[in-house]
Amino acid sequence: MEYKQFAKYYDKFYQNKNYAKETDFLMNFLNPNDNIIDVGCGTGIHAFLLQQKGFKVDGLDLNKEMLDIAQTRISSKLYLQDILNLNINQKYNVIISMFAVLNHLKNIQELEKALQNFKNILTDDGKIIIDLHNPQNSGSKIDTYDNMTRTMKWNYDKKSKIEDSQIIFEIDNKKYVDSHTFRIFTINEIKQCCTNVGLVVKAIYENYDINKPGISVSKNLQFLISKI
Ligand SMILES: C[S@@+](CC[C@H](N)C(=O)[O-])C[C@H]1O[C@@H](n2cnc3c(N)ncnc32)[C@H](O)[C@@H]1O
Repeated sequence: MEYKQFAKYYDKFYQNKNYAKETDFLMNFLNPNDNIIDVGCGTGIHAFLLQQKGFKVDGLDLNKEMLDIAQTRISSKLYLQDILNLNINQKYNVIISMFAVLNHLKNIQELEKALQNFKNILTDDGKIIIDLHNPQNSGSKIDTYDNMTRTMKWNYDKKSKIEDSQIIFEIDNKKYVDSHTFRIFTINEIKQCCTNVGLVVKAIYENYDINKPGISVSKNLQFLISKI
């Protein structure tokens, strides 16, 4: 997504995303005094919902335009940084990274670097929760909400593990066209990168459901990761 251009529309585009359910899922792993950072926080909705539940959550994102919106919601620290080049002098006991942030990375080397960087800012008993997109096929879909039609077309090349998507949002008779390229990481790739940097996958879930184990054909996957 061209976040610079679309930041101001982002919340409209994703008005039907179930952030409350995702936040309730995250709550399963949190303790009241946790020091949390939301990496790739975007407009800060998970951080805001967690803040409303009494947690202190810092945010980090590559795009200033997204952070400018997050700043209107959350009162804690916001870092304008790239996950591939973190410069944070603080440790967190929970790192969350929600809604395909790591799918923006180009390859395994970048994934490993990001996980290494996460580990560097994680306390020894800390937890990482990453949420990844996991398409199975190419396809297309049209959703209609109150004032919005979303037409999605995606092409998933299993060999290269690259998904190219085009999404057309039509809101109040205005059309916005977004395209993005995601690297889709397999469960084994995530596990291997974790092992390489001294992390371990403790559990995998599907669809933000603590009772649903994530498997290779799940549409989205949430990984619970800790230090070895
Ligand atoms: C699909 S949005 C998800 C935003 C938010 N987590 C949510 O659930 O709404 C992906 C976010 O990841 C951020 N992002 C992508 N690559 C990044 C990187 N290398 N470092 C930091 N943030 C990145 C984007 O700027 C964007 O805000």
